[in-house]
Amino acid sequence: MMIRIAAVGDVHLDGDVLGRFRPALQGIGDQADVLLLAGDLTRHGTEAEARCVAAEFGDLAVPVIAVLGNHDHHCDQVPQVVKVLAGAGITVLEGDGVVLDLPGGRLGVAGVKGFGGGFAGRCASRFGEPEMKAFVGSTVDSADRLRAALSELDCDVRVALTHYSPVPETLAGEPLEIYPFLGSYLLAEAIDGAGTDLAVHGHAHFGSERGSTPGGVRVRNVAHPVIKQAYSVFSLAGSSTGPDR
Ligand SMILES: [Fe+2]
Ligand SMILES: [Fe+2]
Repeated sequence: MMIRIAAVGDVHLDGDVLGRFRPALQGIGDQADVLLLAGDLTRHGTEAEARCVAAEFGDLAVPVIAVLGNHDHHCDQVPQVVKVLAGAGITVLEGDGVVLDLPGGRLGVAGVKGFGGGFAGRCASRFGEPEMKAFVGSTVDSADRLRAALSELDCDVRVALTHYSPVPETLAGEPLEIYPFLGSYLLAEAIDGAGTDLAVHGHAHFGSERGSTPGGVRVRNVAHPVIKQAYSVFSLAGSSTGPDR
């Protein structure tokens, strides 16, 4: 049995683009079992923009699971944004996870926004000024929470959902100089440490679609400017016996 996972990130909704995705979402139940939103759902993270996200991604035929992105934090209205999304039935993850009993088996999704810092051999370290320690410390904490949330999932298929990238491959196309602001290898270490089957992220609008962690976990950048469609669908082998095992 297969589990079909639809995913998109960086839809950056506000009133101007409301309705852009809705036509393609109407038939999503025929294409996928779940929809993952990989952050930057809004343009500046206002409650009004969150209502646009609720209108666009609420009341779909499949469960919708999201993490927030840096844009969703910009106006310091995260609690209001999360409340509006939750009111529309959208599950917002941040250091926690959810397990869905789907026809193809049990899908576990753990999510964090993640943060930057860079990649092995070219990364920031928790050293020196308090600002630098806080920056890297935020990433360390995020990766730790992702690892714990992934490990706790009791499921057939385990998926990591982040906004920032765990690997540099899916950033190819972005300027090398900004890689440290686009992701961190610590997220990949968390993903590899928890036996993950798929990692999905956004944030890198000019990046590439495909990559993999050092441990061989498939990584996909689903930022809308990269995938250039309402969502991509990934099929993963789930339970061999279906939901009644
Ligand atoms: Fe974005
Ligand atoms: Fe972003």
